[in-house]
Amino acid sequence: MEKRTVLITGASDGIGFEIAKQFAINKHPLILVGRNEEKLAHASAQLSPYTEILTISTDLTKLDASKHLYDILYSQNVKVDILVNNAGIGLEGEFQKLSLEKQIQMIQLNINALTELTHYFMQGMIERKYGRIINLSSISGPIPTSQMAVYSGTKAFVLNFSQALYTELKKHGDIVVTAVCPGPTKTAFSTTNSLENLSNVTDKIGVSAKSVAIATVNSINQKKRIIVPNTRYKVLLSLAKLTPTTYVQTIMHKLMKG
Ligand SMILES: NC(=O)c1ccc[n+]([C@@H]2O[C@H](COP(=O)([O-])OP(=O)(O)OC[C@H]3O[C@@H](n4cnc5c(N)ncnc54)[C@H](OP(=O)(O)O)[C@@H]3O)[C@@H](O)[C@H]2O)c1
Repeated sequence: MEKRTVLITGASDGIGFEIAKQFAINKHPLILVGRNEEKLAHASAQLSPYTEILTISTDLTKLDASKHLYDILYSQNVKVDILVNNAGIGLEGEFQKLSLEKQIQMIQLNINALTELTHYFMQGMIERKYGRIINLSSISGPIPTSQMAVYSGTKAFVLNFSQALYTELKKHGDIVVTAVCPGPTKTAFSTTNSLENLSNVTDKIGVSAKSVAIATVNSINQKKRIIVPNTRYKVLLSLAKLTPTTYVQTIMHKLMKG
């Protein structure tokens, strides 16, 4: 692999940190983005023996944060070759009962920030005729998930947006957009976001963040439109596609009600 500069949002923890580690091992210069400076410094300390690291602390739910992030890197003449839109939050519970404000904040991070960062950084990729944009969707993207209706909706957006953009960008050179659809993965995601039922499901069938990261980084050369890390979830998704929606929804509802 050539040494390409990689920007990863939500790189201080979970899947994002494991993705950063895989790129670091391959000596790619990294830009790690997250809110908590201490967590970023800790991640940087672990990865800096392998490669060059720049950390940027920002809250991507803030309206001008994505543009500000882009401007900082532009002013330093940093060219991002691989963008990993990983930062995401989840909310669990009935749509009617969840705070609307928090759900809008989730849309801001899971959809708006991802869309803006893609838009800003793809311009340079088009000019240089090389780029990789890796967007973290979820198995909740292709499978509507009750009790996580807005989260699931944000991940469906990521999935469709990424696939459509894959086609648009093909003519501009070696530029690939990949949607990653992990199933429940053992990270702090469930506890940080108080996702009790997802946490129970993850305890039973969750996979490691490292396995998701390896599948994600391997996709760089495979140029795939969608990847579903882990055979277990690939099979689950194939079965869901063959099963009438009503049944899938009944099963998902029972699963997410605990
Ligand atoms: N874990 C799962 O079961 C699972 C399954 C399918 C898909 N996914 C998706 O995979 C992605 C990563 O999930 P994960 O499990 O690794 O999550 P995680 O362990 O909770 O880590 C989230 C990362 O995002 C950062 N972050 C959170 N809010 C942010 C904000 N407003 N601005 C900037 N950075 C922010 C966090 O750092 P700070 O808190 O310091 O900001 C942290 O580095 C998400 O998009 C998630 O939807 C996860």
